[in-house]
Amino acid sequence: MKTTFSALAKRLAVGVAFAALSVSAFAQDAGITVYNAQHESLAQEWADAFTKQTGIAVTIRQGSDLEVGNQLIQEGANSPADVFLTENSPAMVLVDNAGLFEPLPADITDQVPAQYRPQNGHWTGIAARSTVFAYDTRKLTEDTLPKTMDELADPAWKGRWASSPSGADFQAIVAAYYALKGEEATVAWLKGMKENTVVVRGNRAAMAAANNGEVEGALIYHYYWFGDQAGTKESSANVALHYFKHQDPGAFVSISGGGVLASSKHKEDALKFLKFVTGAAGQAVLRDGTSFEYAVGVDAASNAALTPLADLDAPHVDPTQLDNIKASELMTAAGLL
Ligand SMILES: [Fe+2]
Repeated sequence: MKTTFSALAKRLAVGVAFAALSVSAFAQDAGITVYNAQHESLAQEWADAFTKQTGIAVTIRQGSDLEVGNQLIQEGANSPADVFLTENSPAMVLVDNAGLFEPLPADITDQVPAQYRPQNGHWTGIAARSTVFAYDTRKLTEDTLPKTMDELADPAWKGRWASSPSGADFQAIVAAYYALKGEEATVAWLKGMKENTVVVRGNRAAMAAANNGEVEGALIYHYYWFGDQAGTKESSANVALHYFKHQDPGAFVSISGGGVLASSKHKEDALKFLKFVTGAAGQAVLRDGTSFEYAVGVDAASNAALTPLADLDAPHVDPTQLDNIKASELMTAAGLL
């Protein structure tokens, strides 16, 4: 997951040069290329299930939300990408604002309820994740947990919680806070965060810091805990999840997005892929696989271990209103980036 997109692109460029030498072997359509910023394991689970069902090959190019989003903008109409998948909505908005998405047909958008996709139908939600406070159960109890995300900016919380502000996941949380509360409140919250938070790189490291007793909690997404619990528990044995609920900004549910590039040379197969991801079989991958992200498809069940999405009392945030440029500007000004 640490491999940069450009490093991968270089490696792939070598691969492409190689392939060109034996172009006759590639007379047939070589399938679709997915630019992926979702967790690679989840994209691979989707790709494998799709290829098994349709025989269409999927090549995944991996990067982070904004890296890949910016790459698509640079490449424009010449991009080899057919599909773009993200962890969070802001990168989808970035690419949509550049006019690069193919409007989706109703047989795709109808598979996802309206609250999990933009009204313009240029892309769709494919999965969802909830903000949580992962806390050390040896130090915090129901009574001493923060009631709101705002509390974490109070002086009383100095040095007591970890976060990974450089990640796209956390920047989506800040973009949501900004959408809900406006600039003045966001600036004030980030000032408190800068004072209080212990900065680490990656959500897993933030959770591990709580597990190791370095801090009392971490502001992260829910699936890092569930994934670790399903495995060795090495980063979460002493940790439980606190859901802020009450439409608090800390209860923000972030939508992972999927879209088809207007410049795709394999549009039919690309649309087929997105239809698969948002349909029953693709959403079942979320229910049965190892991602522990929420399913968002109509009537699609999430993993039974998760607190139901409907019980999270998340604030209503229009995914198209998540302004990552503004969020990163404010975070940079606060000294967090
Ligand atoms: Fe993540």
